[in-house]
Amino acid sequence: MSTVDVPRGVPLDRPNPFDPSTSLAEIRATRPVSRMIFFPDEHLGWFVTDHGLARQVLADTRFSSASLTPRSPVDAPFLFNKVQKVPVDPGTFIRMDPPDHTRLRRKLTGVFTVRRMNELEDRVSQIVDLHLDAMESQPRPVDLVKHFALPIPSMVICELLGVPYEEREQFEARTRHMFSLSTKPEDRLSHMKAIQGFIAALAVGKRSDPADDLLSDLTRDEDLTDDELAGMGFLLLVAGHETTANMLGLGTFALLEHPEQAALLRSEPELMPKAVEELLRYLSVIHLGPRREAIEDIELAGHHIKKGEQVLISVPAANRDPAKFDDPDVLDVTRNATGHLAFGHGVHQCLGQQLARIEMRTAFDALLRRFPTLRLAVPAEEVPLRTDMGIYGVHSLPVTW
Ligand code: HEM
Repeated sequence: MSTVDVPRGVPLDRPNPFDPSTSLAEIRATRPVSRMIFFPDEHLGWFVTDHGLARQVLADTRFSSASLTPRSPVDAPFLFNKVQKVPVDPGTFIRMDPPDHTRLRRKLTGVFTVRRMNELEDRVSQIVDLHLDAMESQPRPVDLVKHFALPIPSMVICELLGVPYEEREQFEARTRHMFSLSTKPEDRLSHMKAIQGFIAALAVGKRSDPADDLLSDLTRDEDLTDDELAGMGFLLLVAGHETTANMLGLGTFALLEHPEQAALLRSEPELMPKAVEELLRYLSVIHLGPRREAIEDIELAGHHIKKGEQVLISVPAANRDPAKFDDPDVLDVTRNATGHLAFGHGVHQCLGQQLARIEMRTAFDALLRRFPTLRLAVPAEEVPLRTDMGIYGVHSLPVTW
């Protein structure tokens, strides 16, 4: 294939709300590692759609998260798409390699263990009930995103970090702008800086008057600079609410459109842990990445990836790979979906995954029980989809019961 034939950008079109672009299946079957992406700056990158190869790239630290030239994989100014390098923000270890990444991530692994997260379960359950009570008292139809999917993870991460929940509108709106594919690079940067400034100011207060929360704990760590603390707080606050919120919104939509699966979960609630893994696999809300840059020449499945070239993993394609999952396009809450890549893989695998799982299990379970007749209040075609955002989901979900 000559470079003129190489398709531009990641296919984000969808045949329906839950399935990724049909062209992904064709690409995965015919050229699982492909010279597929022209970045808007004309960089010719690589696109990996096969599950096993995606896992291999994510496990290989020669594919760096740090030395990323700012490039957007879609024809949108979502990420910085100028060819100049931007320095990694201190503290945002999602964009660092070992040993810098290891040093910062290690400060948090004790907090995010399965045991520590399970201890939060009762509080998560209270937060879910609080929102279901409020939803029940609203005039119908109710927007499930506004009243359930977004505020639950937002409140949980605020309490964990020690961020005043009253401030949510400000950071939720900034996060929305940051992930919009039409936000200009300079505006995205200013939203990031504003959230970091907000965390930095909070940390000053916590240093003199610490409370029982994660940001207060981090202020006691003499090894961390103020900028690192602000960067880590920013990463946790943003990663901690936006992804889970989209899984709750889109996941509810998927259950409403697959009523036999919802009925199964109502009659056999013990299936919920499996159902959550299956929803993560089936929906793959991270539809634009992870992205890596080769720090040396690397052979991958017979392809020669040169130092400096970018590799984009398609989580939706990998999670629908028939070589890994039988009948991958079927939502089946009884299947064993272990091994999906919704939380990534390797050293950067999602730090908050146990928390996200607890939130999803608790929230879906309570929602299905509380509203046995929950249904869409508009035709499914009218639900606004987040094809215009870096993280997929629904903008709103009008429901009634
Ligand atoms: C990393 C997905 C929830 C915090 C990641 C990565 C993915 C991901 C794919 C890997 C990125 C990469 O390899 O470059 C998700 C999904 C979630 C979710 C689908 C919800 C369903 C959360 C929550 C938190 C969180 C609730 C925080 C409490 C993080 C952090 C990283 C990360 C800090 C960076 C880890 C590192 O670089 O070592 N997440 N996430 N995530 N996630 Fe999540």
